Amino acid sequence: MMNIVPNSEHKAIGELARGLAGQDLRKNWARWEETHEFPVETLKKLASHGLMGVNVSKEFGGLEAGVVAYSNAVQAIAWGDPAIAVTMCVNNMVAEVLQEFGDERQKAFIPKLLSGQTPAGSFCLSEAGSGSDAAGMQANARRTDSGYVLNGSKAWITSGEFAGAYLVWAQVENGGKSSISVFFVEEGTPGVSFGAPEEKMGQHASNTVVVNFDDVEVPADALVMDVGQGFKVAMMALDGGRIGIASQALGICDALLEEAGRIGWAASSYWSGRVEAARALVWRAAKLKEEKAPFTYEASVAKLYASECASALGDTILAEAGIEAALNSNFLQKLVRDARVTRIYEGTSEVQKIVIARELGRRLG
Ligand code: CAA
Repeated sequence: MMNIVPNSEHKAIGELARGLAGQDLRKNWARWEETHEFPVETLKKLASHGLMGVNVSKEFGGLEAGVVAYSNAVQAIAWGDPAIAVTMCVNNMVAEVLQEFGDERQKAFIPKLLSGQTPAGSFCLSEAGSGSDAAGMQANARRTDSGYVLNGSKAWITSGEFAGAYLVWAQVENGGKSSISVFFVEEGTPGVSFGAPEEKMGQHASNTVVVNFDDVEVPADALVMDVGQGFKVAMMALDGGRIGIASQALGICDALLEEAGRIGWAASSYWSGRVEAARALVWRAAKLKEEKAPFTYEASVAKLYASECASALGDTILAEAGIEAALNSNFLQKLVRDARVTRIYEGTSEVQKIVIARELGRRLG
């Protein structure tokens, strides 16, 4: 396996993020956990340091520092509070889709996502009846003389209530058959509404809602790419997104090992070895993406391994920690709760196994 050694710029961005996480996230996590507050000011602060677009071009206000640096930044922010890392990851994913596939008008929105002018972007793919089977979506977009009319409900949408822009996947009728397409919808468009914030097991400082689209009229140039291209755009974006969530899980592992030290549980070489193996897998996927080489398989392997590692490590330490660790004031129990969803979103562990098996099949012919 290729051995990735982060360079000084990768390290500097990780250290910058770790510094901000120590100053702000570690001081506020307990309040956010209790109030479920969405920390707009903290997100603005991260944006002012370029951390909402580490892998996005400078042309759009990003740092253009590559995917390994992006992973290091996510690891550090997740170490501080994993809830902030998921907001950052989804925002990055939306910005990257616009950068890669958007037209000039759509790309012109990216600086708002990166500068803190709007707290985040949302990726509206999942529905209540089609999470893992993304192609089974029911949302639809009807062509009109001037554009499209969107109808449908998207579930489990990260940052939904606070987003400045939404990428919305919907079926469009195309010569008698339906084909999945993706639309760029700005906040404030009439017909967009939200369910109540979901009361989640963990990551309370991230916002998760149902986003409803009721007869939402959008112009023809809201379509990203062509009719029928949406599913591939989603799959490609999720490949990159999985590197983000794997990095988030790694940040949780780092924080867990530190908490373990605090309670006097010295991690065995088995656990520190697993965490470093996860880091090597994440960096490998990141490097391949950076080099524009295929990385679907590597991203799913990294996401599966790192997220399962975070959960198992959390359970192991909690079992050693004694009853105080279960109190709400204890960061350890938050990490254990926050780790669980890394095995669910951006594709469950079962979905990663499907992707890995298919990719292996392809590679082995
Ligand atoms: N890159 C490019 N194209 C791809 C691709 C990829 N990684 N994966 C699939 N495609 C293409 C295929 O080549 C195929 O193209 P053709 O029709 O031209 O042959 C097409 O897409 C359909 O592919 P599949 O037959 O593999 O599609 P499928 O329906 O069997 O997909 C699945 C199955 C992989 C499980 C997919 O549904 C999936 O990834 N599900 C999980 C969805 C997910 O991760 N959701 C997360 C939501 S976002 C989120 O969680 C954000 C958050 O809040 C944190």
